[in-house]
Amino acid sequence: MAGNVTDEIKQRVDIVDVVSRYTPLKRAGSIYKGNCPFHNERTPSFVVFPHTGTWHCFGACATGGDVITFVMRKENLDFREAVELLAKEAGIELTPREEERDGQQRARIYAANDAAATYFEHILHNHAAAEPARRYLERRQIDAPTQQLFRLGFALDGWNHLRDYLLERGFAIELLLEAGLIKRNDERNSVFDMFRNRVIFPIRDRQGRVIGFGGRVLDDGLPKYLNTSETPVFHKSHVIYGLDLASRAIRERDQVVIVEGYMDVIAAHQYGFANVIACMGTALTPEQLRQLQHYTDNFVLALDADTAGQQATLRGLNQARQSLVRVRKPVVTPTGVQIEERLGANLTISRMPIGKDPDDVIRQDPAAWHAAVDAAKPLVDFYFDVVAGQSDLNSARGKGQVVAELSPLIAELGDEIERQHYIQRLSRLVQVDETTIAGRVAAASKTQRAELERRQQQGRVERASTDDAEALPGEERPSDSPVRAREAAAATTPRQPGRFEHEDHLLANLISDDGLLVWLAGVTERLELSALSGDDWRNLENREIFLALKRYLSSDEPWDLELFQESLPPSLHGRLADLTTYAMRSPHSSLPHLREDAIKVLVRMRIEHLKQDTSQIKFLLLEMERAGEQDAARSMFKVSNQYLRELSHLQQVMGRLPQELSRRNRAEGGLKLY
Ligand code: UTP
Ligand code: MN
Repeated sequence: MAGNVTDEIKQRVDIVDVVSRYTPLKRAGSIYKGNCPFHNERTPSFVVFPHTGTWHCFGACATGGDVITFVMRKENLDFREAVELLAKEAGIELTPREEERDGQQRARIYAANDAAATYFEHILHNHAAAEPARRYLERRQIDAPTQQLFRLGFALDGWNHLRDYLLERGFAIELLLEAGLIKRNDERNSVFDMFRNRVIFPIRDRQGRVIGFGGRVLDDGLPKYLNTSETPVFHKSHVIYGLDLASRAIRERDQVVIVEGYMDVIAAHQYGFANVIACMGTALTPEQLRQLQHYTDNFVLALDADTAGQQATLRGLNQARQSLVRVRKPVVTPTGVQIEERLGANLTISRMPIGKDPDDVIRQDPAAWHAAVDAAKPLVDFYFDVVAGQSDLNSARGKGQVVAELSPLIAELGDEIERQHYIQRLSRLVQVDETTIAGRVAAASKTQRAELERRQQQGRVERASTDDAEALPGEERPSDSPVRAREAAAATTPRQPGRFEHEDHLLANLISDDGLLVWLAGVTERLELSALSGDDWRNLENREIFLALKRYLSSDEPWDLELFQESLPPSLHGRLADLTTYAMRSPHSSLPHLREDAIKVLVRMRIEHLKQDTSQIKFLLLEMERAGEQDAARSMFKVSNQYLRELSHLQQVMGRLPQELSRRNRAEGGLKLY
């Protein structure tokens, strides 16, 4: 929907006027107050800000928005419907834009595809001429429920069965051509079915819409599979076969297994390995990887042994590696702390026994498949095998090649110990001392860093030296204080890739729901906890983002992630992206669930931090006593007692949290929040 239409609506529609239809408003200075129209209350906690065109409930809803979101909630409409309603009211004409027409055309293609899939299914199960196809699937041991799950079908041997069926159902020829279901023969000036005498595998997107088809011959004919060519809804490089069926399992197991073919995916799902998908027989594309990274960082590639050694596979993997989302990590160097990019995903390779593909393995022995996936080797190990096998390790040139190929891979490993391990291994492999190899790896690392910087726009400084950290606003602590030391540690300890701390989790949630912070403020107060503040964050980047978020949310600017990002210094954009990706990957089922989670995590995080502080201060106390610094020791002792009191309070709160929350849920029961 056009941004200017929503702007125009906001300009032309008087929000006070709209809200007044649902609840009486009273003027109070430059704002209007009233009882919240979304929940029952006696003291007005609902405020409308006419100058910004926004509203906010400071009571139980603890949320707000603009006139469009108000109408959406009040009238239970989606965004488009609300815009249409308000536009009509304001006399704004909505001209369907190009995108919308495209959207409508795409919707028609989905409908045609769906009708075709239904038709093919029907033929497979009912038509006498489909008997060979039914026997074929039986021979391939695909059981009936699995056939249904994948909506397998059959295209009869003829030129216009599907065409006539769909034309009769009212689909236009042009549409069927655009959907790739039929083709035009220019010489004869006729159109004919694309799929003939083939078993049909509908290909769906992650929402389960049919976007295209694969059709397999029943014999050894060629091509073995015929696939839909590019259409407005079918882009081969984006397609992930089986994702609609696998996405949940991928998220739950935090792992995706990538195979090569339709049949492999089908066998896997029939045997309960639901986190398996295929990438259409081509090398993994960046688009496919990016989609999968919404669900997990753990990739297992199940490769046929015979294709695995080939140069093409290696190139494909190389490309895959490069397109995986990177994480930015602080790394300690002699000159300070540098942010380096490391692979944000674990890519492992599982090789099938020679001459077998996953389909064969699974059907012969599901346990063997399971074992093969479990035994998947990190990509680096795989490279070691392949590269070593291809080069002459006795010649200087061969050694040079091996080092040149493997150093960049080692350089981007997330873990120092892992890097060390492979440096040693490479040193043994080529019989060159470790220092030299480590030097090469460091050089590769430097090249990667330069590349990273080059890619960043000018002015986007990605180096956070310790000096920068000291210059943060509000930082006036002596550099040897425990807090300072702790923060330095927090800033320089590289996090495990994929592992998120409590505070990251909480911050990601705060960013994903703009009402959460205000809600938390109310709850912490009732639980006699201090309000969430900058001091709660141990990670300096988190702290900065939190403070900016608080500023943003109190500005009455409607929530907009992009605007928020603009309010941050560019050096924090990477971190923000990590947090939003994280939140997207594990969305909450409902608002109450999100809130419950937030308060729990907040309490846990404070307990965790206090425990760290207490043990640190005990250590300092001992040091002071040993040094005869009685005054300092006494004040340390006081602080330590204070920490312990806070800790016991928090633990007590933690204990009564379940009752508190269920009481609160009851109090808010019946209230429709979203
Ligand atoms: P395979 O040749 O490994 O096929 O190609 P398969 O999936 O194991 O099928 P069966 O077991 O022989 O029946 C792997 C994938 O490559 C694509 C298909 O997506 C196939 O599933 N492919 C292969 C094509 O698109 N066209 C072809 O002609 C061959
Ligand atoms: Mn196969």
